[in-house]
Amino acid sequence: MCLKLILSLSIAGLVSASQIPGPEERIVRGYYIPIEYVPWQVSMLNATLHRCGGVIYSDRTILTAAHCLHNVAVKDLSVRAGSSYWSKGGQVQRVLKAIKHPKYRHFPNPVYDVAVLILEDPLKLGSAVDEISLAENTPDAGTITLASGWGLTRVPGFHWPILHGVHVTILNRTECENYYKDINYKVTNDMICADAHQGDTCKGDSGGPLVDTKNRKLVGIVSWGAGCGTNPGVYADVAFFRNWLKYTVQENI
Ligand code: ARG
Repeated sequence: MCLKLILSLSIAGLVSASQIPGPEERIVRGYYIPIEYVPWQVSMLNATLHRCGGVIYSDRTILTAAHCLHNVAVKDLSVRAGSSYWSKGGQVQRVLKAIKHPKYRHFPNPVYDVAVLILEDPLKLGSAVDEISLAENTPDAGTITLASGWGLTRVPGFHWPILHGVHVTILNRTECENYYKDINYKVTNDMICADAHQGDTCKGDSGGPLVDTKNRKLVGIVSWGAGCGTNPGVYADVAFFRNWLKYTVQENI
């Protein structure tokens, strides 16, 4: 009887802890999600530390943001797939080659912020490790999408060890461009913007997926934003990069 009470109390505690994040526990303002819900998500590790997110395009190729490769040596890079924790479980594969978009620049904010990683050995695909296809079209304003990652859950820094997700709505690009122009950032036609009620990706989520879950298509790759949860999040527009990504994978695999 007593045991039952303790058990149900602790289960209630677990459920509320996982479903109703406290003010300190957010991707920003997101929620815990199991890796099986976003099996295309990987953690890109620099030596043993989480550096960025990444997306499984095929068993041997990962997509990420070009700025994630800043100041790292390819020989130190690996990816962890199939785990809700960036630090343990799942499968780890080393990166053999990393190819940044040749037009990638970083001023005042990243542009052409995409890169392809070729793995040394293929990942074993299954329910927690799976590829996702690239969107053919730029998503319309108003589309609800899911972003995920192990990035900061609050500012200043706190890296949450368990995967988080947040639903964000695609914004009209011209509006986003005008918005950022006022604070001296440049949104260009290789980018899409998304936001939610203070829900956002944040530092450490870069390189990770923005997915139209209804059609199971990758529409964006986490790129940048001014602050977290206070201005729109900006993503590389996967439809814009579709041909370059496909060609680069084909040429390097
Ligand atoms: N640039 C950051 C990174 O390197 C994250 C970008 C997302 N920021 C945002 N406010 N939406 O991880």
